[in-house]
Amino acid sequence: MSINTLVLGLQWGDEGKGKIVDALSKDIHAVCRFQGGHNAGHTIKVNNQQTVLHLCPSGALHPNVQCVIGNGVVLSLEALDKELKGLEDLGVSFKNRMHISNACSLILPSHIAIDKVRDKEESIGTTGRGIGPAYEDKVARRAVRFGDLGNIDILKDKVTTLVNYHNKILTNLYGAENFAIDEVLETLNKYKYLYDNYSSDVQDVIYAWSKEDKSILFEGAQGSLLDIDHGTYPYVTSSNTTAGGVSTGTGVGPKFIDKIVGISKAYATRVGEGPFLTELFDENGSMLADRGHEFGATTGRPRRCGWLDLVALKKAVFLNSVTDLCLTKLDVLDAFKSIDVCTAYDEDDLPIFKSFPGWMSETEGISEFDQLPENAKSYIKFIESFIECSISIVSTGPSREQTIYIS
Ligand code: GDP
Ligand code: IMO
Ligand code: MG
Repeated sequence: MSINTLVLGLQWGDEGKGKIVDALSKDIHAVCRFQGGHNAGHTIKVNNQQTVLHLCPSGALHPNVQCVIGNGVVLSLEALDKELKGLEDLGVSFKNRMHISNACSLILPSHIAIDKVRDKEESIGTTGRGIGPAYEDKVARRAVRFGDLGNIDILKDKVTTLVNYHNKILTNLYGAENFAIDEVLETLNKYKYLYDNYSSDVQDVIYAWSKEDKSILFEGAQGSLLDIDHGTYPYVTSSNTTAGGVSTGTGVGPKFIDKIVGISKAYATRVGEGPFLTELFDENGSMLADRGHEFGATTGRPRRCGWLDLVALKKAVFLNSVTDLCLTKLDVLDAFKSIDVCTAYDEDDLPIFKSFPGWMSETEGISEFDQLPENAKSYIKFIESFIECSISIVSTGPSREQTIYIS
């Protein structure tokens, strides 16, 4: 019997989705991205080699796993070309196993320029990858789509209209440089091989696999608190990062998913601006950053660190219909004498914490729940009972095998 699984982040991204998707991909037929773009940075560690994926689904390192980029993704051809070539240099082949939706909106160089000049004023702290402007054009029905690469006349018309519009914004509002339409077209044509090799009707492909009883995994990017509707607006990304995004972003109905794995770190991090109620500014915060190597996988920016917010986590479990919680980076807490979690907010919206004694011993690499120190077990059990969802995976290190599966 096939089981279709969704894996998504429940915080502000970087929860360890890449590691977990890779670990779960062993028995999976296909891994599909359904939203976001190359703002994502998903890290996988196999045989001591670290790979960071931005667009390519995190099942890619398993040679028999099919890779899908659904219509909900905003696609930079330049970023995809670079990523696929980098992986091919490592011996990863995409022949007959990459499927990209013709309905993906493209990120043009002018989207990136607009994102960068605008963020100087708006201070969201975006990744500067053109994500917001590309989604704006999608919703405004003027996007150039991946499938347009198949018809040079349509492509030329659409690119001309869109880049002319971007040039008006860039020059009139920001006094920035214009883009030459010919050059944009030339660049897009350089990557036409991606269309020739991988363009696909993703919904048809998934439908056919489902008829063959194949198991499919959907990989979220970013996290629930960065969702355009349900996150800490306006300090969010521009897509639905939550469970509903799978349906709109690939063309499957909500009941297609059997299992929803929500990932949370054993603490909290955020990169970019915006509220973070449990953020730490003391030596505990620096220790989390140091021990967790908390630097962005896409931009290299330091991540802000703090304690786990169980009130927000419980909401995210409901918001996504999470069936299984995965707690990552437990090992980062190994050196803390005491560990706090937020269990409520006071009338001024300040977090109220409950303290747990630390375990002060090494959990890195432990792969059996019974081998965890008692205080670590108590910490995990408290989280489980508070959020009313069972924890079925605990991650104790960045590598595939540093994982506890609890049945
Ligand atoms: P993603 O965006 O959710 O895929 O997460 P990132 O890859 O951006 O960030 C997670 C970071 O934590 C990466 O450097 C991973 O290698 C690392 N990581 C994942 N799980 C664990 C874990 O259990 N313990 C430790 N120490 N590191 C982990
Ligand atoms: P993964 O998939 C962490 C944040 C940015 C910024 C906000 C908007 O690796 O978890 P955007 O460029 O999307 O318009 O930026 O969202 N952000 C992420 N933070 N992990 C990510 O992806 C992120 N993708 C975007 O820092 O605050
Ligand atoms: Mg990341």
